[in-house]
Amino acid sequence: MTKEPKRYLITSALPYANGPKHIGHLAGAYLPADIYVRYLRARKKDVVYVCGSDEHGAAITIQALKENTTPREIVDKYHALLQQNMHDLGISFDIYHRTSSALHHETAQAFFKKLNDAGLLEQKETEQFYDEASNTFLADRYITGTCPVCSYPGAFGDQCEKCGTSLSPEQLIHPRSTISGNQPIKKQTTHWYLPLQKYESFLREWILDNHAADWKANVLGQCKSWLDAGLQPRAVTRDLDWGVKVPVPNADGKVLYVWFDAPIGYISATKQWAADNQKDWAPYWNDADTSLVHFIGKDNIVFHCIIFPVMLHLHGNILPAFVPSNEFMNLEGDKMSTSRGWSIEMDEYINDFVKKENGQTMVDALRYYLTAIAPETKDSEFTWKGFQDAVNSELVAVLGNFVNRTFVLMHKLCNGKVPKLHSLTAEGTQLLDQIKETASGTGSLIEQFKFRDALFEVVDLARKGNKFMQEQEPWIVAKQTDDNGNILPEAQQKIDNCLHLCLQLTANLAILMHPFLPNAANTLCHMMKVVPRILEWENAGRADLLQTGYSLRAPELLFRKMEDAEVTQQVEKLKLKSAAVKTNAIPESPTPSPATKPTITFDDFSKIDLKTGIITKAEKVQKADKLLKLEVDLGTETRTIVSGIALHHAPEKIIGRKVVVVTNLAPRTMRGIESNGMILMAEDANGTLHFVGADVSGGCNVS
Ligand code: 2FM
Ligand code: ZN
Repeated sequence: MTKEPKRYLITSALPYANGPKHIGHLAGAYLPADIYVRYLRARKKDVVYVCGSDEHGAAITIQALKENTTPREIVDKYHALLQQNMHDLGISFDIYHRTSSALHHETAQAFFKKLNDAGLLEQKETEQFYDEASNTFLADRYITGTCPVCSYPGAFGDQCEKCGTSLSPEQLIHPRSTISGNQPIKKQTTHWYLPLQKYESFLREWILDNHAADWKANVLGQCKSWLDAGLQPRAVTRDLDWGVKVPVPNADGKVLYVWFDAPIGYISATKQWAADNQKDWAPYWNDADTSLVHFIGKDNIVFHCIIFPVMLHLHGNILPAFVPSNEFMNLEGDKMSTSRGWSIEMDEYINDFVKKENGQTMVDALRYYLTAIAPETKDSEFTWKGFQDAVNSELVAVLGNFVNRTFVLMHKLCNGKVPKLHSLTAEGTQLLDQIKETASGTGSLIEQFKFRDALFEVVDLARKGNKFMQEQEPWIVAKQTDDNGNILPEAQQKIDNCLHLCLQLTANLAILMHPFLPNAANTLCHMMKVVPRILEWENAGRADLLQTGYSLRAPELLFRKMEDAEVTQQVEKLKLKSAAVKTNAIPESPTPSPATKPTITFDDFSKIDLKTGIITKAEKVQKADKLLKLEVDLGTETRTIVSGIALHHAPEKIIGRKVVVVTNLAPRTMRGIESNGMILMAEDANGTLHFVGADVSGGCNVS
């Protein structure tokens, strides 16, 4: 058994404060973390759970442009909304901080400075896309175009949100400025880079050698493919005026890249929490006896498993012990997306189900279903019908029903008091064993981040309680009465035995359900007239949680049934919302027509030497997604040509292909390979490149 760490620092991905977040986000990074943290607290561990709003980057400034307001107003508005939503859904952060705070700016700047002063960052001048109309360098979401992988026309310069591929602006087909819609030009600029490629072996050893057995397969798989593809230097600054200023002289107009400063937000949040609670933040980030666990969605894996760990390593901090990333949760047969209106925003759910009812039962209902269908190993699917089924046939019919029956019968047959256990039958002993097994099984599953299975264990225990009650049938036993209608003493003893055990089981259920369903657990404490301290995990498995003779309150509603009409209404609402978004959507900018070039003379044209050729060899150029190295047979000679067609043509499929080559182009070296010529390609409206061929042998002149 591995030694338990001295303390835990748990983080959930900082959501961008650029709009409401949906329940897929909740299921991915917040609810599982909250379950884990509540469990650790119940085990009286030293645990701090930090999160906050990610308030920098293009996500914010572009939203400000859309809403015709300032980035400051945007982050203030959505920070407040997100903080409230998380609170309403029972996410129990120890601190919900924000990256626009002064403390965060100081922390992120000091971090950057330490790395830069130690010579661990590289400064480089490069050409980047630039929008002349708005005088803006175009990085990340400031540039949009067609995804080279899935052909989605609205991909951003950092990622295609359709297929999830990480991109660089250069990979976009038909790049356009998000601000003006114009085609960008290239302009020189200087930035600082984190030379990730130098730390490949460090990462391989840390992840693939040390964590192969205890990290989730989906996380390991992504890390491995990033490492196998070869890491590149990563720019950690941007030309923007909203963000953390680059803390070196003469860096006006430059800020830290949002993905450099945001994870440092976990550190500044810890610092703020420590200051608020008279604690020392440093051991949480510096002492190897801390277990740092990042809960994230799958699109954040590379940042938390590759980039931030390198930053932490260079800065002298501990590395994450686990990064239990989830996959995606789809909705009613499609990808969840706020921008397409195909989503259930946390705020919407709260308005429709929580505020209206002025109760917490539907908070737990959502937490229950999202955990039961958590995308722990693969993408999963939320449907309103599935939600209704889970609530009605598991929460209400199994958990709620067991507790309710126990309380109703205890009031009816035992004067509202915990009855005595007169004797233990074989069935009773078996039930007590099952309680103990569930207690240790649930804890161990939570520790392995298997929250679905852990929750099933808890529901299954209630199912066993129902079975026990059904077999003991105290309501039938109660019919054994004397002439005055009093239950016979022997029968009463049987009833007492049954309800005593069912009440002990109820108290255990409160402890075990608490991390998942905190409101129901607290309601149970109220019904049992016990203080919440009973929920400490060390009490799980005990058979003496409720004292004999102790009077208990009347049963309260833990969960309520969901009606068919609610399902229909929500599905309808979803369809209407997405239709409204489609109607109001601004059409994608049309594909720019190929620029018309000035007329040239025949003499100009005849300077170009065009020849037919046949591709005889083709291979990918290492560390260059777009390039293929080709050998082309021109009849009298074979040329090496580097061609930017790798995103459109697999090397093995183009051997023998007849092509037209510009043979008198000055040689050009790309990725260390001298290219001697250029293959003619035709680009269609989708940006796909097609060979311009001639059905003759190699070496013919083309004119
Ligand atoms: O993907 C996102 O929503 C980012 N705002 C997550 C940041 S997590 C962390 F690094 F701060
Ligand atoms: Zn794509």
